[in-house]
Amino acid sequence: MNAPIVEMRGIDKSFGPVRALVNVNLRLMPGEVLGLVGDNSAGKSTLMKILTGAYQRDSGEIFIDGKTVHFKSPHESRDLGIEMIYQDFALCGNLDVGQNIFLGRWPKRFGLFVDRAKMHHDAREILDRLKVDVNSVYQKVESLSGGRQQSVAIARAISFDPKVVIFDEPTANLSVTATKRLLETIAELKRHNVAQIIISHRMNDIFEVGDRVMVLKRGRNVGERLIAETTEKEVLELIVSGVPETAATELVA
Ligand SMILES: Nc1ncnc2c1ncn2[C@@H]1O[C@H](COP(=O)(O)OP(=O)(O)OP(=O)(O)O)[C@@H](O)[C@H]1O
Ligand SMILES: [Mg+2]
Repeated sequence: MNAPIVEMRGIDKSFGPVRALVNVNLRLMPGEVLGLVGDNSAGKSTLMKILTGAYQRDSGEIFIDGKTVHFKSPHESRDLGIEMIYQDFALCGNLDVGQNIFLGRWPKRFGLFVDRAKMHHDAREILDRLKVDVNSVYQKVESLSGGRQQSVAIARAISFDPKVVIFDEPTANLSVTATKRLLETIAELKRHNVAQIIISHRMNDIFEVGDRVMVLKRGRNVGERLIAETTEKEVLELIVSGVPETAATELVA
């Protein structure tokens, strides 16, 4: 058996009086697609923001490739190959597709001038590789539909050549066709051994691309199943009436 690429152990996080996460554990293997599910406010986004360093944990440990990490910002997790596409993906609407994909690292000529030709050529290449359907890399992002804007955010994330990609509600606002395309992108990344965590309320998406599913309820682990060995019905039951694993052990003790 190979080692996990991501391991989170005993993660706690409170926002004032709100205990968003209580002793949460998570493991992710290289190339694995993990569905992260749970009701609204279960703590899914918070757990992932702690993984990227967007939020700081109160306690617990995080290991990437077996090494303990303390990311202070998403820039630091990016350096170790972790990318997250947020629920409210942040793009610059008044810049074009190519400029957004390479935001903060526009290629330069003679170290001075932005090499627009190279930037747009490379952007086109990434979009084609991902089979992302955006007509022109010169188009301003604000003129694209929500679904296509999301594709640009995904293309940007993938252009960093990550080992781990986290999607927060990627299909919530997508059409049937756009959802199908995104699920193909996820499968394509998996073929390249990229590990992925997909937060979603759409069980059929998780069942289509996932290897395993992990359920959070009110900030606690309530169960984990291999997709091949469970049903949507069983996972929905865990979401609604799952018994917190921490509480179960407390009872035993
Ligand atoms: N920045 C913050 N400040 C204060 N409270 C927060 C913050 N972020 C999250 N919370 C709280 O933490 C809890 C977990 O929120 P989180 O966004 O992680 O849930 P979620 O599982 O992603 O839900 P959803 O499915 O609605 O996106 C909620 O009670 C939320 O109000
Ligand atoms: Mg969320």
